[in-house]
Amino acid sequence: MAKIFVTRQLPGQALEALAQEHDVQIFPEPRPITEKELYEGIKDAEVLISLLTDRIDSKAIQAGPNLKIIANYAVGYNNIDVDWATAFDIAVLNTPGVLTDASADLAFGLLLAAARRIPEGDRFIRKGQWKGWDPSLLLGPHVSGKTLGILGMGRIGQAVAKRAIGFGMKLLYSNQRQLPAGIERELGAEFVTVNDLLTQSDFVSLHCPLTPETKHLINRKSLAQMKPGAILINTARGAVVDEDALVETLQSGHLFAAGLDVYEDEPNVHPGLLAHPQVVLAPHLGSATQETRNEMASLLVRGIQALFKNKVPNNLINPEIIK
Ligand code: DGY
Repeated sequence: MAKIFVTRQLPGQALEALAQEHDVQIFPEPRPITEKELYEGIKDAEVLISLLTDRIDSKAIQAGPNLKIIANYAVGYNNIDVDWATAFDIAVLNTPGVLTDASADLAFGLLLAAARRIPEGDRFIRKGQWKGWDPSLLLGPHVSGKTLGILGMGRIGQAVAKRAIGFGMKLLYSNQRQLPAGIERELGAEFVTVNDLLTQSDFVSLHCPLTPETKHLINRKSLAQMKPGAILINTARGAVVDEDALVETLQSGHLFAAGLDVYEDEPNVHPGLLAHPQVVLAPHLGSATQETRNEMASLLVRGIQALFKNKVPNNLINPEIIK
């Protein structure tokens, strides 16, 4: 029986199943755990189930001398020092695949909401400002047939591309590696440089992980390269975008709008983004469907159980720890 510490109650039944075989302790508060509480929780735990808001750096890893597995309830794992975990032979798990559709749906929802000004329309009606149909009311750019640039063409980027096909959009993408020709053909997507993607797209949607290389990939210079009137969608990680630069570019009128699910300093949102009527804000909801959140927990539990049986789960980020 292993001691498993979980930093938040998770949706679904997966943790209950785990608790039938192991000593599962769940941090009881519905708020992010503090550093002190985390260190206390993992001081004798073999497994940590963490959230993307938990900073699992070298200090945290050293606070858990018995840790064998860190299972992160997210596909992104920029909150974990994976090199450090690997150096201590700790397996790191994440939740790829199961949140692809939910995340792509949200990205496309933000794109439509920002272009067609749906939240502004909602606020307009609720404030009692609607006086009747008006030929010039809340006009936005057409979506169908426009060019969508996808920056980061992994699972979620490709799922966004599939949705865009239904809107007859022209697809450009940038990625570390070019996709196999068959997938490019299926998606009708053209591999271009980041510069070409920025200068040619009407909509730019970000789907790359946050790494030292992608931090502030979208900065003052890249925002200036975007087409006048373009729309930026970010459902990846906040720090991929320099928010000060984004606010300036929006205020200058160079970009028409932005649709954001992630922020540089969550849960704090830049006041300039809060103040801008054409910025659509979501509170990091990419994977927030009941089915997806249940499946994310089940995937982590299956991964933990596999590792306990000396099997290698597909969602192991650092397979090099397996000797
Ligand atoms: C993830 O899993 O990395 C997403 O950001 C969750 O919405």
